[in-house]
Amino acid sequence: MEAPTWLSYAFAWLATLVLIILSRHLRHRKLNLPPGPKPWPIIGNLNLIGSLPHQSIHALSQKYGPIMQLRFGSFPVVVGSSVDMAKAFLKTHDLTFASRPKTAAGKYTTYNYSDITWSQYGPYWRQARKMCLMELFSAKRLDSYEYIRMEEMRALLKGLLESSNTTITLKDNLSTVSLNVISRMVLGKKYIDETDENAILSPEEFKKMMNELFLLNGVLNIGDSIPWLDFLDLQGYIKRMKAVSKKFDRFLEHVLDEHNQRRKGVMDYIAKDMVDVLLQLADDPNLDVKLERHGVKAFTQDLIAGGTESSAVTLEWAISELLKKPEIFKKATEELDRVIGRERWVEEKEIVNLPYIDAIAKETMRLHPVVPMLVPRCSREDVKIAGYDIPKDTRVLVNVWTIGRDPNVWDKPNEFCPERFIGKSIDVKGQDYELLPFGSGRRMCPGYSLGIKVIQSSLANLLHGFTWKLPGNMKKEDLNMEEVFGLSTPKKIPLLVLAEPKLPVHLYSQ
Ligand code: HEM
Repeated sequence: MEAPTWLSYAFAWLATLVLIILSRHLRHRKLNLPPGPKPWPIIGNLNLIGSLPHQSIHALSQKYGPIMQLRFGSFPVVVGSSVDMAKAFLKTHDLTFASRPKTAAGKYTTYNYSDITWSQYGPYWRQARKMCLMELFSAKRLDSYEYIRMEEMRALLKGLLESSNTTITLKDNLSTVSLNVISRMVLGKKYIDETDENAILSPEEFKKMMNELFLLNGVLNIGDSIPWLDFLDLQGYIKRMKAVSKKFDRFLEHVLDEHNQRRKGVMDYIAKDMVDVLLQLADDPNLDVKLERHGVKAFTQDLIAGGTESSAVTLEWAISELLKKPEIFKKATEELDRVIGRERWVEEKEIVNLPYIDAIAKETMRLHPVVPMLVPRCSREDVKIAGYDIPKDTRVLVNVWTIGRDPNVWDKPNEFCPERFIGKSIDVKGQDYELLPFGSGRRMCPGYSLGIKVIQSSLANLLHGFTWKLPGNMKKEDLNMEEVFGLSTPKKIPLLVLAEPKLPVHLYSQ
């Protein structure tokens, strides 16, 4: 038989190419995609997303419905904005959506996706979650650190007494406490202590580094949506990600070295903090997937980042909402006086006896979820939701900010009204899809039990210990309640307040 000529090869190639293109075209035509705005070439729908993406997306979902499809550059993004859709994505099809998209932030700031938050679904991430459940956030470990949370809370209350009747920026004080609590629990000490002359970083430097990390993990980096523009780094974010990561790495290297030094040669060393636990796990030859040094650093960074900002942001919103509604202060005070009395502080275990305080915390998280669209997920296979096709690798957002304001779920949804939770069993543990500040399902926040403890007990003691007032002649109507978007969603203008002590003075110095 005669050998095929180059012409017959070329023909065969061409025919295959045409078949591939045709089959893709036919497949796409057959797909029933969720409704959404028509995308522009190259940018998709990015032109519709403003500086507060969750609010832009909220407005679009009012037009296109509880499941809609957008395009961020070349990528399809499906948004769920109702209780039913949250349930579909996070419960019914949780396993399908248990992965994360690969973003520049994950690559450059978390050791190439080696942390918990940005790692892809797979054995590494599953093992990480097992470590969280069994070791890092076990009830026993969290209880063993209660004294740290109490000590730091007392230090805050004492500090507030000392600055009583002067105007303070509440969030600064709250962030310092969260940072101290998380540093002591995760790193074993306050690495960023003002009084420590040998500290590797000053508290200001550390806070700057954290803020930068948070901001860069929340930004809409053009290269994540339009990959062929990635190398240009048009917004300069990648340069900043590399810089902050380098700084964090220097800090984490120092922390790990100190911990290893302490453990060296000690038989049956007992872990004192979460870094110790991680280093012990890294030494474990029986782990399914080896935890390397960069993995320990990435997990440590996740724990510091996850634990520091979120509770401070929630508490600042709570006090702001209460300043707008003084009658809520009054009711909270009545409950605290009745259950606790004016001769002592509130302990963590007593929150069960303070349903109104618990309701204020829930109402704050309903209207001001720290992560308003949760952390993006990514479909691992083709799936059908509500009759629509969601192809593999689609990015998925669940807009809990919209769900928290859904008039079909909440009566007078825009009103801050803790009473709506009294006598109801709605909780934030990921089982009640109308209230998901910590997400739900396999990717739900692993630190939620710590987060909720810190929020509830801080709120209770801040309300028990002080009367809160706006400075000068400022009226409650003047209080700005705008947000800024990042990985968390704090107030745009930080709250300035006056705190007047309510309890006998000797209690503040105990
Ligand atoms: C007020 C406190 C907190 C809030 C509101 C919060 C909220 C969230 C949310 C919404 C998610 C995404 C869930 C999803 O994708 O469905 C998340 C994930 C995560 N959170 Fe939190 N969080 C808080 C505290 C903490 C604390 C104290 C830690 C650790 C010390 C932490 C560590 C993490 C980690 C590691 C993830 C990623 C989980 C994964 O991808 O598997 N968070 N958090």
